[in-house]
Amino acid sequence: MQMMGGPISPHGKEKRDMHPVNKILSLIGLRISRTIGSLNAHRDFREEYNRQLGELIRDSKGFEVFRDFKYDVGSHPKSYIDYECEFAARSLSKRNPTTILDVGSYRHFVIGLLASHKVTTIDVRKWKSSLDNETVLTSDAKQLDIPSNSFDAVVSLCALEHFRLGRYGDEFDLDADKKAFKEMVRVLKPNGILVFTTTITRTAPSIAFNAHRIYDYDMIRALCQRLKLGEEEFFSHKMGKFIPLEHVSNLPAVWDVYCGCWIKR
Ligand SMILES: C[S@@+](CC[C@H](N)C(=O)[O-])C[C@H]1O[C@@H](n2cnc3c(N)ncnc32)[C@H](O)[C@@H]1O
Repeated sequence: MQMMGGPISPHGKEKRDMHPVNKILSLIGLRISRTIGSLNAHRDFREEYNRQLGELIRDSKGFEVFRDFKYDVGSHPKSYIDYECEFAARSLSKRNPTTILDVGSYRHFVIGLLASHKVTTIDVRKWKSSLDNETVLTSDAKQLDIPSNSFDAVVSLCALEHFRLGRYGDEFDLDADKKAFKEMVRVLKPNGILVFTTTITRTAPSIAFNAHRIYDYDMIRALCQRLKLGEEEFFSHKMGKFIPLEHVSNLPAVWDVYCGCWIKR
């Protein structure tokens, strides 16, 4: 947290949305900021900021100006989610499927896909789409009301490990992940691809209840036993990059990311 002084008192919407402590502090021109990045701001950057702010106060060309100090200099931040989505994007673009089913993936990835594809999406939580090319099914992944051999690709990013641990208001079923995986394979056309990401460890598999399961490689391989491997990669949180399986974390309760593209025979 950081104390910020300044000549400008907030007004309008900003003041209404303020934390009560900041409302009081703002009376004496101070405020506490939770912007962690701003703690690292270089002194030169702050001085330049204050100089520019002073100029803006003198002439802001019709805008009202208030302090909202940000310091986001440097490389663009990248999380494991970016790597999972990049893996899925690579696998899909290699095969260019026409019919796609998505099961519980990141909405932003699905919305990107919808720019150029028709996508059927399944999630246990209700969702309304404003896009005509998204068919939304609200359903439990462990039992899909979809005929067998329907899709060229099934995508499921960061979802399997959560199924039916109760977190989403779903009824507890420890085997729901295996049941859902079987269903995803059933609705795939022969030669269709299943692109999925999940947790992985090199120590004993575990359940971080009720957040997610943490699989070992044998468990993941057992799920895929009737499929043919397209490609797979392992992302390390610690190293911030894809790594060989031998470097996947072996610390208890720490998980890395498995990314796999498997083909239905
Ligand atoms: C970690 S989230 C994936 C990312 C999330 N959809 C987003 O855009 O941020 C896992 C998703 O799986 C869904 N889910 C959980 N259990 C499910 C189940 N049994 N069947 C279908 N979807 C399920 C959740 O509702 C959630 O949207």
